[in-house]
Amino acid sequence: MMKEIRKAVFVRPASPCEDRVWRFEKTFSLTKPVRRATLAASALGVYTASLNGSEVPVYVLAPGWTAYRKRLQVQEYDVTAMLQKENTLSLCAGIGFRFVSNSGFRKYRPEKFPDDVIPMGELAVIAALTVEYEDGTVETILTDESWLVSQTEWRYAQMYNGDDYDATFVPDAPTHAVAVPLSTDCLIPQEGAPIMEQERLPVKEVIRTPAGETVLDFGQNLTGYVSFRVKGTRGEECVLSHGEVLDRDGNFFRENYRSARAQIHFICDEEEHFFKPRYTFYGFRYVRVDAWSGELDPADFTAIVVHSDMERTGYFESSNEKLNQLFHNIIWGQKGNFVDVPTDCPQRDERYGWTGDAQVFCRCASLNFDTRRFFGKWLGDMRADQRTSGLVGRIIPSVCDADLGSAAWSDVCTVLPYQMYLTYGDPAFLKDNLDMMRRWVDYMRGRFDDFVGPEEHHYGDWVALDVPEGRYIGATPKGFIASAYAYYSTRIYQKSCAVLGVDCPAEYEAFAERAKREIYEKYMDEEAFAAAHLDDDAKLRTQTRCAILLFFGLCRSDEERRAIAEELNTLVRENGTRLTTGFVGTPYLLHALSENGYVETAFDLLLQEAFPSWLFSVNRGATTMWEHWDGIREDGTMWSTDMNSFNHYAYGAVGDWIYARVLGIGYDEKEPGFAHTILAPLTTKRLDFVRGSLKTSFGTISSAWHHEGDKTVYEFTVPDGVRATVRLPGIEKEVGAGEYRFVC
Ligand code: BGC
Repeated sequence: MMKEIRKAVFVRPASPCEDRVWRFEKTFSLTKPVRRATLAASALGVYTASLNGSEVPVYVLAPGWTAYRKRLQVQEYDVTAMLQKENTLSLCAGIGFRFVSNSGFRKYRPEKFPDDVIPMGELAVIAALTVEYEDGTVETILTDESWLVSQTEWRYAQMYNGDDYDATFVPDAPTHAVAVPLSTDCLIPQEGAPIMEQERLPVKEVIRTPAGETVLDFGQNLTGYVSFRVKGTRGEECVLSHGEVLDRDGNFFRENYRSARAQIHFICDEEEHFFKPRYTFYGFRYVRVDAWSGELDPADFTAIVVHSDMERTGYFESSNEKLNQLFHNIIWGQKGNFVDVPTDCPQRDERYGWTGDAQVFCRCASLNFDTRRFFGKWLGDMRADQRTSGLVGRIIPSVCDADLGSAAWSDVCTVLPYQMYLTYGDPAFLKDNLDMMRRWVDYMRGRFDDFVGPEEHHYGDWVALDVPEGRYIGATPKGFIASAYAYYSTRIYQKSCAVLGVDCPAEYEAFAERAKREIYEKYMDEEAFAAAHLDDDAKLRTQTRCAILLFFGLCRSDEERRAIAEELNTLVRENGTRLTTGFVGTPYLLHALSENGYVETAFDLLLQEAFPSWLFSVNRGATTMWEHWDGIREDGTMWSTDMNSFNHYAYGAVGDWIYARVLGIGYDEKEPGFAHTILAPLTTKRLDFVRGSLKTSFGTISSAWHHEGDKTVYEFTVPDGVRATVRLPGIEKEVGAGEYRFVC
């Protein structure tokens, strides 16, 4: 139906949209029997649709969020059964993901996209209803200026601020829609995994807080919206506020939402209503009932969890309930932030596709869920938004014209496609993105001295703990991280070329070596480091630096590797077996330790409960991953209100170590997609048992181990089509499909 919708025109209301929801309507008659009818629709904004008063079951927050100047998804729905002789087709649309005009980022960066045909704060819809008659003829109803537009009960719907719904509202007479001179070249068929309502959670507890507030606790920090039944007197207003945590005193807390109001205001008429937001979403666990009509019945409220539709593929369980809760939090961190775009967080005035967050988490994410459609579509947006210079921005889809990049953020353009290739074994991820990878590497290559220099914009080891409290950028020098990632991305580009049989010129080898040299010239000994005159926060010896050197294969000899591993182990142990790593170092930390002889240290870090650690937040009642190790401090106070999300998946990256080393289901780069699997769990006496599985494109691989006396019993299932190398203490064995048990 793409052909038909391209004949339609984008239409908008005649007056400014003012963050209201607008109804676009067309009536038409059908004279002949219908064989099939398909509605194709999209919007600059988010839309719902109905035909003759019945809802078309559209995806949640359709058409999703893309780099929509170049790519705007079109959804198709079979509406055959909904047609009558006389018909009214209506599309309602709110501003949706185009929220950046109003708050959030725009506040900090006032740049505009100069090529916007309609301003960021305005919306438009486009649709084509194709009716195929029994006699073989076809008729299409297209959006154009004959459509009528009116305001709706949704007086306001804005992603950050929430919904204002007035059931008493009576619209003025409709006016004609206005055509928007926007080419339909940007329209593409639905590419991503559609956002859908996935789960429903009842109220777990109604809390009366010390401050006298009434708070509904859904027991789980989640992304979606609350639905409720309400019946009040005419004009009565019900108000609900959303929050993620309670403060130290047990009172409702929402300061970490910053400027996002995140409230529902509902004005009653006399009727009973079943309400749920349709043009917004919220990140929350708690709902404070600020105003309500009559007696509050918790059975009238349900939290609806929404996220992109992805099949769950990874499972893990152990004898340690806290570790199980951590895994649960990792999964829910992904659910809450995989809403069409991999967002940093779902609650405050950001909710952007921050590239660094996805870069560090994509490995774990691709094991937890089948992310092929989800990331495949986001990579399309990344290609579309790559600058002519080759720069890949810090946020995709880009939200302002003058976007900046950063080492470890922009490198998502090499790391993600390669990870998708490793997890799923599909070289198309490399093929589709090879050019983007090359252009990013060329960008760094073309301006390397500046790129690793002190003036360049980088986020460094974001929110690490090796700097004085209150600083965002950790102590590992930014130039070191930039050099290391330049090396890493170039190596990924070279490997990708090799997989695809594409010639990779010698300049790239030279560039990787150049990047490595930079590290050895400045960041390997105290003297050279002192001569580099970095800022006061910069330190040479950090956990993140060691983890990167080891994980990226930057050591020049085994001896050097052993020395760096020992340094890392000492840094961790001398810190009371506690980590100090931020976004960049954390995903590699346990791998770097366990692959270099410090297995017990890795387990001790994983199972550490004292601050800072993964289980510290679990002990504090977390149900999702926190942005900061100290989101809530040991004394119960908050890190800060400025930047303190309780649903930020980045530190959940540790999940990939759990799959690869605790369950011991590891891949072989030479035979990706788990065609050849390395079954090599590491064990500890601190856990009695673990079990879990990973669904690959071949079938499910499972792994379990438990202790029996002084022996460990290992059990594996290998599906058809997979070869596995079992590597256990004193055992190395090649196996094919089957079930296996080893005792050693
Ligand atoms: C986001 C992060 C992001 C960062 C950039 C923050 O505001 O929430 O997750 O990566 O900015 O450093």
